[in-house]
Amino acid sequence: MIATHRTQVAIVGAGPSGLLLGQLLFKAGIDAVIVERQSAEHVRSRIRAGVLEQVSIDLLDEAGVGQRMHREGLVHTGFDLLFKGERHRIDLQQLAGGQHVMVYGQTELTRDLMDARQASGLTTLYEAQQVQIHDYDSARPRVTCEHAGKSHIIECDFIAGCDGFHGVCRASVPRDRIMEFEKVYPFGWLGLLADTPPVHHELIYVNSPRGFALCSQRSTTRSRYYLQVPLTDKVEQWSDEAFWQELRLRLDPQARDHLVTGPSLEKSIAPLRSFVTEPMRFGRLFLAGDAAHIVPPTGAKGLNLAASDVKYLAGALIEHYQERSNAGIDHYSDRCLRRIWRAERFSWWFTSLMHHFPENGAIGQKLQEAELDYLIHSESGARTVAENYVGLPLSFGEA
Ligand code: APR
Ligand code: PHB
Repeated sequence: MIATHRTQVAIVGAGPSGLLLGQLLFKAGIDAVIVERQSAEHVRSRIRAGVLEQVSIDLLDEAGVGQRMHREGLVHTGFDLLFKGERHRIDLQQLAGGQHVMVYGQTELTRDLMDARQASGLTTLYEAQQVQIHDYDSARPRVTCEHAGKSHIIECDFIAGCDGFHGVCRASVPRDRIMEFEKVYPFGWLGLLADTPPVHHELIYVNSPRGFALCSQRSTTRSRYYLQVPLTDKVEQWSDEAFWQELRLRLDPQARDHLVTGPSLEKSIAPLRSFVTEPMRFGRLFLAGDAAHIVPPTGAKGLNLAASDVKYLAGALIEHYQERSNAGIDHYSDRCLRRIWRAERFSWWFTSLMHHFPENGAIGQKLQEAELDYLIHSESGARTVAENYVGLPLSFGEA
């Protein structure tokens, strides 16, 4: 049996990029079908970072899915940098023109987007297998897959590759049409989620000779902590008690006293990578989000970059259908990449500044501490950190 669908935009992947794009297109009256490899339950339960820049907050509002975020999300007007055993606050509001960030878990955001999609009765093929893209250089691209015992053909005008780092879209582009830039870091992040009150009401980024640590949160009763660990470590080696003990050793005395520990709800190790694909458009195929780029998580730019790609892509497609102009489509790749490279640079720099690099020896640690000392005591230094953390403007430096 073959089922044929006809839609304007076929979206591959129901992560934050694909779901948000689907919602923005729906609002503009543009028809889209999403094809997702995993089950809806799997997509709903993935745990990832959750710090939203103003640009992302605005976009979620534009997509009509911001209500719960505004109710339950936590507005953060600053964060702490901890080094040489002492904490120093970066005041985002004061340093970055009154801006703030919103702490709202990606799991919640994904849920809101999935619920909105379901409520609008839009088509999503979950658990699609053998997803393939075809003829994106022609005027009649197609996506094919196997789903619920049937072969599906999705005929469309455009394909949006929102299928993450391991997806099929980027992998389908011939190697001589694509350039990839990559750096893999020699350590990973061991993350732990617990139903314990966060150690501090704001985030703490920790530079310690024992390695980086991050005290983050999902709500006032749920905390998320990370430890820098060697890539050779396995999550099974880390009991909850060992995790809490190591975290204590990386904190300042006050935070150590305030730390409330408890059983982990989730524990996992993630590698750190910087990765960019150029270009991001191939005929009628667009890559967006993790399909096109990865940042190391220090600074939480991943989701925010996905959101700005989607903003540019939705804008370009709306312009195409409503104004019969391809200007946005033609500029998509360049516009995205300018913002991406600036966020890549910040994420790489913040990662390099905060992590322990054994190969740099004791002098490496001293130089990091001197740089941190300079940053927090120089207004322009602190402003640089704050400005990048809240997110650079979408039209930065554009004519
Ligand atoms: N066919 C269909 N779907 C696929 C395929 C495939 N061959 N391969 C992957 N997918 C799906 C994945 O199962 C996933 O649901 O594409 C989706 C991609 O989602 P994400 O990896 O979350 O990527 P994206 O939507 O771009 O979101 C970026 O996620 O990783 C974080 O830091 C990142 O916060 C950022 C956000
Ligand atoms: C998280 O809460 O998962 C998180 C927060 C900030 C970061 C990275 C991850 O920089």
